[in-house]
Amino acid sequence: MKSEEVILSVEHLSVDFRIDRRHILHAVKDVSFQIHAGETLGILGESGCGRSVSCMSILQLNNPRTTIYPQGKILFQGQDLLSLPPKKMQSLRGGEIAMIFQEPMTAMNPLFTIGDQMREAVRIHDPSASKAQAGLLCADMLRQVGIANAEGVMDSYPLTLSGGMLQRVMIAAAMLNKPSLLICDEPTTALDVTIQAQVLELMNRLKEEHGTSILFITHDLGVISEMADRCMVMYGGTKCEEAPTDELFSRPLHPYTEGLVNSHPRSDYRGDRLRTIPGSVPSLKDMPQGCPFHNRCPYAQDRCRTELPPMQSYGENRIAACYHLQKEEVSAC
Ligand SMILES: Nc1ncnc2c1ncn2[C@@H]1O[C@H](COP(=O)(O)OP(=O)(O)O)[C@@H](O)[C@H]1O
Ligand SMILES: [Mg+2]
Repeated sequence: MKSEEVILSVEHLSVDFRIDRRHILHAVKDVSFQIHAGETLGILGESGCGRSVSCMSILQLNNPRTTIYPQGKILFQGQDLLSLPPKKMQSLRGGEIAMIFQEPMTAMNPLFTIGDQMREAVRIHDPSASKAQAGLLCADMLRQVGIANAEGVMDSYPLTLSGGMLQRVMIAAAMLNKPSLLICDEPTTALDVTIQAQVLELMNRLKEEHGTSILFITHDLGVISEMADRCMVMYGGTKCEEAPTDELFSRPLHPYTEGLVNSHPRSDYRGDRLRTIPGSVPSLKDMPQGCPFHNRCPYAQDRCRTELPPMQSYGENRIAACYHLQKEEVSAC
């Protein structure tokens, strides 16, 4: 149910953290992307690439003690979230924009029961709902994420539930108000495969029935290839490629994307050794000059060690930032 309407437009977002008096970390550098209504955009990348920081910036949930005011624009339905008064931002959270966190306790208050918190979430965004009506809605949503004993769970306090159960509660809570944008950061990591499939299907139903847009982060390439219409790839705080999902997997352009895709077992995988990308993501504290991927890249040239490659188009709906690709294109002409 994807439409042409752009619901979220992140423009040249940069996020820095002050880690001590002398050091500043550049966690996200000049990242831009858009999501259309009813579309799922996946963000791929290894741990530490800046995916969570980018998503947390949308709801302004990065630690205020260390975050230096983010640069750029985050336009949600046309309004810039970075200049929205805190009260307005608060009312968007959990209403029009909901987020499922990697760590479920982030979203819970340990002092209130699950039911209290979920009912409250419904009534903040729909004050006309009675407590009983809100309760029915919550129980129904909990059943949809595979929690049979919905009433029992609603009477429980968060810390008495298992990690997998809490994650399902958080997913149900995020979907309660039929958000326009659902941000999912590694949403199904703690779930077993059957429950994971059920939750992913539920997200897809929300997208089909309500035109919800989904921003989806996971390290699981199998999940993302099924969920996302389009994917962007991040490395060392920068965006290195974006493409429709099927094209990204069948013909990765950026050498980092190629490495990721080659390290992933495909459905026709017959047990040959998978290739892993040699080396590891450099620490933000000593990020190399030039392209952040150059010291793991099999195609690195001198220029890659000194200059950050700009984003360039390859065909109608593909972009990538890589000097090697530019060179290939010139030699193909
Ligand atoms: N509040 C913070 N203060 C300082 N550094 C942070 C903070 N949050 C994240 N970082 C750093 O920013 C980088 C990107 O992190 P993150 O976005 O969480 O990566 P990932 O792609 O795994 O989600 C990491 O190096 C992380 O340590
Ligand atoms: Mg993360």
